[in-house]
Amino acid sequence: MSAIITDIYVAKDYLDKGEVVGFPTETVYGLAGNIYNESAIQKIFSVKQRPSFNPLIIHIGNITELYKIASDIPDQAYELANIFWPGPLTLILKKHHSVPYSITAQKDTVAVRLPGHPLAQSLLSVLDYPLAAPSANPFGSISPTCAQHVSEYFHSQIPCILDGGVCEKGIESTIVGFNKNVPMIYRKGSISIEDIENVSGKLQQHLRNETSPDAPGMLSKHYSPSTPLYVTDNLEEFLNKHSHRKIALLSLHKKMLNDQCIFHQEILSEKADLKEAGKNLYAALHRLDKIQADLIVTEEFPDVGLGKTINDRLWRASKK
Ligand code: TXA
Ligand code: MG
Repeated sequence: MSAIITDIYVAKDYLDKGEVVGFPTETVYGLAGNIYNESAIQKIFSVKQRPSFNPLIIHIGNITELYKIASDIPDQAYELANIFWPGPLTLILKKHHSVPYSITAQKDTVAVRLPGHPLAQSLLSVLDYPLAAPSANPFGSISPTCAQHVSEYFHSQIPCILDGGVCEKGIESTIVGFNKNVPMIYRKGSISIEDIENVSGKLQQHLRNETSPDAPGMLSKHYSPSTPLYVTDNLEEFLNKHSHRKIALLSLHKKMLNDQCIFHQEILSEKADLKEAGKNLYAALHRLDKIQADLIVTEEFPDVGLGKTINDRLWRASKK
């Protein structure tokens, strides 16, 4: 098993040697390596079984490092970074020539963010290089929101996981790029579209391309548990139809259902608070995936704020 540690210098030693380590961010745990070490980058792709067409996000420790990662940065990108960094906003910008193409999957753009988790910041502050890090899960599966999830996924494939507790946001960063200086949303995330639009004005929707995805977090099937997951707009009818099956229910708040076939219910927020629901979503899916249900069912969440992000993840998790 990988060692679960809290000493950033132990993680630094491994990273300096070109190893990859698990580390906490405020969104989800990442699988991190030195962006300038090609063998570390290749290890990230192989441990995660990630297709090489899917680029990685670079994590910097300070906004002043942005100029080493990106060039021709639009004013609006600075404006967003000044407001949301440190925090769960990833910007897609023109890549600096020194950033290896292996990280950007041969693209001339690069994804970059400044994470808000204190332990991620401490780690980055003692390193001489930024960290490339995808979410620390095998490609396509549920992102990890605590060190234990990472350990269960990778066992001894990585030397250590830096334990920063349960992720405060629990859902990946929101990804924003620019098309001729017009801001576009590439991935819904733990900053709501409304909060970004308050700063940037109306965001364009980046179109999904299944064969050559610009942001494969946008592939229709992603973030998936192994147990089949259904999103229904008529729960009663769904339960009647599947009454012979072992059903696990995922819901925003408590549902009073007099139904024998529900043998487990996960409630994401007693107060029906969407931020709290976002924080709990992946941990609930991890638990639901372990209880040997025949299927997981959920209803669509309210389509506002983080509800939009949660619906996006549930929709992808439900794809066959
Ligand atoms: O919250 C997060 O963003 C977490 C933590 C660890 O920082 N990271 C994360 O990484 O979610 P990952 O690799 O699981 O998702 C990154 C997404 C992918 O969908 C990838 O395709 C997209 O970012 N991406 C990276 N570089 C890109 C680029 N140059 N253009 C378009 N999309 C890009
Ligand atoms: Mg991911």
